[in-house]
Amino acid sequence: MDIQAAVATGSGKAFEIRTVQLDEPREDEILVRVVGVGVCHTDLVFKEGGVIAPPVVLGHEGSGIVEKVGAKVTKVAPGDRVAMTFRSCGTCARCDRGDAAYCQTMPLLNYIGMRPDGTKTLKCEGEAVGSNFFGQSSFASHALTYERNVVKVPDDLPLELFGPLGCGIQTGAGGVMRSLACEAGSTLLITGGGPVGLSAVMGAKIRGCATVILVEPHAARRALALEFGATHVIDPAVDKDLAAAVRAIVPIGVDYAFDTTGVPAVLTAVMGALGPKGVFGIVGISPPGTPVPGDLNNLMTFGHTVKGIIEGDSDPDVFLPELIEHYRRGELPFDRMITTFPFHQINEAIAAQHHGDCIKVVLLMDA
Ligand SMILES: NC(=O)c1ccc[n+]([C@@H]2O[C@H](COP(=O)([O-])OP(=O)(O)OC[C@H]3O[C@@H](n4cnc5c(N)ncnc54)[C@H](O)[C@@H]3O)[C@@H](O)[C@H]2O)c1
Ligand SMILES: [Zn+2]
Ligand SMILES: [Zn+2]
Repeated sequence: MDIQAAVATGSGKAFEIRTVQLDEPREDEILVRVVGVGVCHTDLVFKEGGVIAPPVVLGHEGSGIVEKVGAKVTKVAPGDRVAMTFRSCGTCARCDRGDAAYCQTMPLLNYIGMRPDGTKTLKCEGEAVGSNFFGQSSFASHALTYERNVVKVPDDLPLELFGPLGCGIQTGAGGVMRSLACEAGSTLLITGGGPVGLSAVMGAKIRGCATVILVEPHAARRALALEFGATHVIDPAVDKDLAAAVRAIVPIGVDYAFDTTGVPAVLTAVMGALGPKGVFGIVGISPPGTPVPGDLNNLMTFGHTVKGIIEGDSDPDVFLPELIEHYRRGELPFDRMITTFPFHQINEAIAAQHHGDCIKVVLLMDA
């Protein structure tokens, strides 16, 4: 079928809205009419990084309405409202333990720009177009996705805003609630207050952390962090020695740290702010080749842990409904971070996000 998609055509080039052809769903595939899709920093990393050869349709925070399902699909039916998340196999040892974010076939199912059998679901003027990004490629009017990718969204909630639950929000909130599992009364440092860092702040409030310090250069993001439950904010342009600024608040160093910047100098500074047995979770994407931060002898002496985190260790079928309940109770007001743009303004929206004019962009499909 003909659909509209924002095609990434190469590093440094704007997305192009094109008519492309999408395959009919195979027996395990679900056709979703996308109503909204969030822009995550990871989309931009893949657009610029060339990991998937262009042309490719990115987008991995889509939400929409199921239009058609393949013969083997039982989890959802046409008409169901769903948020889409990352893809996992559901059968490997990791998935069996509810550890879907570390599925043994995670790279193959999410990052190669095609189905695992090598076929692509999209074509443009006869040329195959990269697809299956996070098992959805939802910068498009329609997406082909899979049972493990979809979670139902109740009828009374604004479906178009719920795609980001499937990546940025579950990564930030889950990073603190599941991966670090910060205890009530603990101290936490969060570096970077974009959508992921601010979701971590909301997660910290839910967990009952006593001290939540957010480091972020944009004043509006620091202000929102305070409203979401941060107890302290630091402007890195003013406090250039991060470890000293944190120790001025928590002299012994923090119990937990969570990085969303991926900036090597920030990662190194965070190691100096960790207290005894401090655990440092990292989700921000660093430049290729960045070493694990810190000094091994310090790590040993103070019993530190440095931990890579994917998607907040989420098991989406369990954690997304939990996050929806927190949203209903007013504990996860993620919609306050969102600015919506029409889909065809994808490039303008990304520029606005880049300049700090808005925090989280959600593109709404043009009617
Ligand atoms: N590991 C995962 O599963 C996963 C999932 C989602 C996103 N990510 C990655 O997480 C990161 C955060 O995502 P996002 O959408 O919030 O990105 P973002 O770019 O919106 O947020 C990063 C924030 O860091 C701030 N920042 C920049 N330099 C800083 C400094 N020196 N000190 C403190 N703050 C600084 C920026 O102003 C920005 O607000 C990205 O790298 C993204 O690719 C990883
Ligand atoms: Zn698996
Ligand atoms: Zn993402």
